[in-house]
Amino acid sequence: MRLAKYRLWPLAALLVWTNAARADGDPARGEQRFVDCAACHAPQPGVANVGPTLSGIFGRKAGTLADFRYSPALKRSGIIWTAETLDTFLADPQKAVPNNRMPYAGMPDPADRADLIAYLSTGVK
Ligand code: HEC
Repeated sequence: MRLAKYRLWPLAALLVWTNAARADGDPARGEQRFVDCAACHAPQPGVANVGPTLSGIFGRKAGTLADFRYSPALKRSGIIWTAETLDTFLADPQKAVPNNRMPYAGMPDPADRADLIAYLSTGVK
């Protein structure tokens, strides 16, 4: 019976491995995922659309572009956009920032999000 807890080790190792793989998304595949966002977000700097530009999103504080009218919820969130905060937000935007005004249900697949975030991290010019 004492052996039972050791049987979980391979599973734990697998989880660590898949997390590492996720951190390493594919920007080319991510560009395909960006079709989910492109209706509302421009990838070029200085272009406010239905949503704010996602150019230079990495390291930006949420809700701070001067040329876009954000919801109070997003402005107050205090989020700094990194791979981790983007991952949480994009998985389920309303859960991550309740009452934000982004009309997007979320991207459930972690691998899809990793690819998209890798694409966003290229600077999205
Ligand atoms: C139907 C329109 C729409 C879609 C689709 C959409 N967004 Fe948004 N997004 C918005 C709006 C509007 C806001 C501003 C929300 C607010 O002020 O609460 C926003 C805000 C954001 C922000 C915060 C930006 C900042 O300056 O703080 C990020 C990051 C973001 N969206 C990423 C994405 C990504 C990535 C996708 C695609 C997976 C996506 N959005 C899909 C409309 C959209």
